[in-house]
Amino acid sequence: MQIQENISLKPYNTFGIDAKARYFGTFKDRDELEEFITHNPQFNTLILGGGSNILLSKDFDGLVLKNEMKGITELHEDNENVYVRAGAGENWHRFVMYCIERSWAGIENLSLIPGNVGASPMQNIGAYGVELEDVFFDLEAFNINEKKVITFTRSDCEFGYRESIFKGKYKDRFVILNVTYKLQKKPRFKTRYGSLEQELQKMGVKELTLKAVSDAVINIRMSRLPDPSKIGNAGSFFKNPLIPNSQFKELKEKFPDLAGHSLLNGEIKVAAGWLIEKCGPQDSVSWKGFRKGDAGCHANQALVLVNYGNASGKEIIELSEEIVKSVYNTFGIWLEREVNII
Ligand code: FAD
Ligand code: EPU
Repeated sequence: MQIQENISLKPYNTFGIDAKARYFGTFKDRDELEEFITHNPQFNTLILGGGSNILLSKDFDGLVLKNEMKGITELHEDNENVYVRAGAGENWHRFVMYCIERSWAGIENLSLIPGNVGASPMQNIGAYGVELEDVFFDLEAFNINEKKVITFTRSDCEFGYRESIFKGKYKDRFVILNVTYKLQKKPRFKTRYGSLEQELQKMGVKELTLKAVSDAVINIRMSRLPDPSKIGNAGSFFKNPLIPNSQFKELKEKFPDLAGHSLLNGEIKVAAGWLIEKCGPQDSVSWKGFRKGDAGCHANQALVLVNYGNASGKEIIELSEEIVKSVYNTFGIWLEREVNII
C-alpha cells in the first residue's frame, strides 16, 4: 500500500481540471483495496476509474483510490451465450475490441466510450440504441463499511436511463471489483439508431459484422464528440430530459422542429442538445459554441461542456447553471446533470 500526498488529478480526469487529491493510491486487487480502507477510515474516499464522468469542483480533501484491477476471463458458455468477466480496471474500449475479436456480440454499439469496465454499470452506459443492462449478467462489489464482497444481479442494480443503484441509494457505499457480461454467440444487431443506419450506408456496408457496426459507431463518435486528449470534457454534461407526452405536444406547437422520441412508458425523451442549441446567453441566440474564459459549450455538440485549457471546475459548474436556467426559461424543462460532481 503506497499513499502519495498532494497529487494533481489533472491527468486522471478527462475534463482536465487541475484539482489536487490530499492522498492518492492505486489498488490491483481486493486485498490492497481493503488495506487502504482499513488503515485510513478517517478519510473520505473517492473511487476513480478513467475519470471520464466526473467534474472536480475543488481539491479533494481525502483519499482518491484508482481502481487498477485487471483481467478478462471467459467463465462459461451455453448454446447461445458466453459469460465473460472483466476486472473493473480494464479499459472499456479495449474490452469491447477484445470481445469483437472473439466474435462475442452485444457491446459493439458501445465502442469508444471512454473509461473503465468498473464504471460501466454506475450509470448504465448507453449509446446508439444499446444500454449496458442489455448485456449485464452480474457484478461483484466490495461493501466499504462491512468489508465484504456482495454479488449484484441485474435486478439488484436497478438500472435506468443513465442510472443504477450505485448512483442512487448505494452511492459511495460499494467499490465495483468486476463485471460479468452475457454476450451473444450469434449477433442480434441493433442498427436502427438514425445516424448509425446512415453511417453504415455511407460506408457501403452490405452485410453486417460486429467490426462494421463498431467502425460505424467510432466514425460517428469521432466526427461529433470532442477528443478529451485535445479538449477537456466528460461527454454529455446533462441527461436528455424525459417529459410527459402532453407537455411535448404543447412545446411542439410553439417549436415545431423540437427533437424527441417516444419511450415505451409513453414519456418523450427530448434531445437536450437541441434545447441548449435553441436558446442562449443574453447577447446571443445559442449556447452552442459559447465560450467564457476557458469554459465552453462545444461547437458541434451542445450537450458537451468543455474545458479549453485552464477552466476550474467551479467555472464549468457556473456555466452549466446558466444553461439550466436559460433552458428552463425558454422551454419550461429542467435539465439534470449526467456528470458526477465531486
Ligand atoms: P469515472 O469518471 O472514473 O467515475 C464515474 C463515477 O463512478 C464516479 O462517481 C466514481 O466514483 C464511480 N466509480 C468509478 N469506478 C468505480 C468502481 N469500480 N466502483 C465504484 N464506483 C466507481 N457515457 C455513456 O453512457 N455513453 C456515451 O456515449 C458516453 N460518451 C462519452 C464520450 C466522451 C468523449 C466522454 C469524455 C465521456 C462519455 N461518456 C459516455 C461518459 C463516461 O465515459 C462513462 O460514464 C464511463 O462509464 C465513465 O467511466 P470512468 O471509468 O471514466 O468513470
Ligand atoms: N442535437 C442538436 N444540437 C446539438 C446536439 C444534438 O440539435 O448540438 C439533437 C439532434 O437533433 C440530434 C439529437 O439531438 O439528432 C441527438 O443527438 P445525438 O445523436 O448526438 O445524441 P445525444 O442525445 O446528444 C446521446 C447520449 C450520448 C450517446 C449518444 C448516442 C445522453 C445524455 N447522451 O446523446 O452519450 O453517445 O446519444 O447514443 O443520453 C454521454 O452519456 O456522455 C454520451 C455522450
